[in-house]
Amino acid sequence: MTTTSATPRLAVRHLTKRFGALIANDDVSLTIAPGELHCLLGENGAGKSTFSACLYGLLQPEAGEIEIDGVTAELTSPAKAIASGIGMVHQHFVLVPSFTVLENIVVGTGSGLRLDMTAARGRILDLSRQFGLEIAPDRLVADLSVGEKQWVEIVKALYLGARLLILDEPTAVLTPQESERLFAIIQQLKASGIAVILISHKMNEVMRSDRVSVLRKGRLVGTVTTKDVTRDDLTMMMVGRPVAQVHARSKPGAGETALSFTGVSLAKGGRTHLKNVTLDLAAGEIIGIAGVAGNGQDELLEAVAGLVRPDSGSIHLRGEDIGALSVHDIARRGVGYVPSDRFRDGLVSDFSIAENLILGQHWDERWRSGPFLDETATRRSAEQAIASYSVMASGPDMLCGRLSGGNAQKVILAREFAKARHLLLCNQPTRGVDIGVIEFVHGELLRKREEGCAILLVSEELEDIFALSDRIAVMFRGEILGIFPRHEADIARIGPLMAGHAHGAAA
Ligand SMILES: Nc1ncnc2c1ncn2[C@@H]1O[C@H](COP(=O)(O)OP(=O)(O)OP(=O)(O)O)[C@@H](O)[C@H]1O
Ligand SMILES: [Mg+2]
Repeated sequence: MTTTSATPRLAVRHLTKRFGALIANDDVSLTIAPGELHCLLGENGAGKSTFSACLYGLLQPEAGEIEIDGVTAELTSPAKAIASGIGMVHQHFVLVPSFTVLENIVVGTGSGLRLDMTAARGRILDLSRQFGLEIAPDRLVADLSVGEKQWVEIVKALYLGARLLILDEPTAVLTPQESERLFAIIQQLKASGIAVILISHKMNEVMRSDRVSVLRKGRLVGTVTTKDVTRDDLTMMMVGRPVAQVHARSKPGAGETALSFTGVSLAKGGRTHLKNVTLDLAAGEIIGIAGVAGNGQDELLEAVAGLVRPDSGSIHLRGEDIGALSVHDIARRGVGYVPSDRFRDGLVSDFSIAENLILGQHWDERWRSGPFLDETATRRSAEQAIASYSVMASGPDMLCGRLSGGNAQKVILAREFAKARHLLLCNQPTRGVDIGVIEFVHGELLRKREEGCAILLVSEELEDIFALSDRIAVMFRGEILGIFPRHEADIARIGPLMAGHAHGAAA
């Protein structure tokens, strides 16, 4: 059959997907044209990932029809979805680290032993060139940056013949520079007629699409043409109320020193992660660490949490040298730690919400009744956390692996914010959470600060850093290149430092 521009690339009609009593996608219908960039927008748990998983054959909807280029598609497995021209880049990469880029792209392409590697290499290079992806076929995937892995995933989808590409929160793990690259690549894809479904919580990205479909509690609220709407219109459609971005805050109090780094250095794997870091953080103060990911921010927080040991220098928590203390001993002193990778370091997928909320704190007397865990107390506290963080869950017993991405993040925030009596180490707290939850998290961070908690905040989102910090420190290659009171910091001042240009760095 012939494909005219009037035939949608994708037509979904009346798609319904249930998990038990929960309707994750409720009678969703939409169309996407060839070359269209279509965003899916919605609160955490609205059903975006579920919708994508149905399109990619990972989940089977109970009802609905899917057509690709006018042909009904039976999407009962990813292999069928690929054969129908659908590609997907997963949020958690599925590449094999010990294989080369070329091997990763051709594995499972079904050509068996007859695969012509020379021809495959040629096609991969052609595709990379055509779409501006710059990938080296012989490099090991293990050696690639997060962004480079994503380009490989995209080339793989194109190699397999994708005419519709689904990207589920691709930029959550990319640096701002890599995100820009991704949008340039998307432009190339569009120009060659490939349709793209993009899921993102970042409004500035959503505003770059052609059309937006908004989901709320599994239902399609509507599909709009992006240039006809404002961000506020979209927020209203998604949350049902306007979201304030600014919180009132008091002047920073001159609290006692809560945390101090003195000449802290750390090198591992032949790289310098921390270089002579000296920094004091007061009780009731928020210091925001600005920097491109991978410049020592993770290690700075890990060193305080006791996960890595510096090679030299010392770290004091409220006057006590914590250099020899274990992770648990540090946590017991009232330190909360929100890690950047929620499922690697923060949550156990096979544990319930209630269990995850007390993870690492079973020693706490709040959860004990004699030598035993007090289940009534843990359940009650889990119910409270679910309510105050609006976690979309069936209850305290729900396994964390079944939560949507943003709702899983809320569980970590609830646990660590509660633990942080004196110090909160926060790495990318708003990653993957919707706009309403960002507002809530900002409010909670400022409330902790009012209570006298010291907060060390790492975020790739400069909006977080500017909205919350009392002082802003810029890290580059493990070194603090400058530290400024917030009113003296603007992007013109900290931008060059983030790129390593240290001219005029303040003390
Ligand atoms: N395997 C599962 N079992 C039970 N419930 C599930 C399962 N997978 C998803 N859900 C539920 O379906 C709903 C929709 O989840 P989904 O992951 O599609 O949300 P989302 O819109 O992608 O959210 P986020 O922005 O947080 O990623 C959530 O309430 C989630 O808990
Ligand atoms: Mg999701």
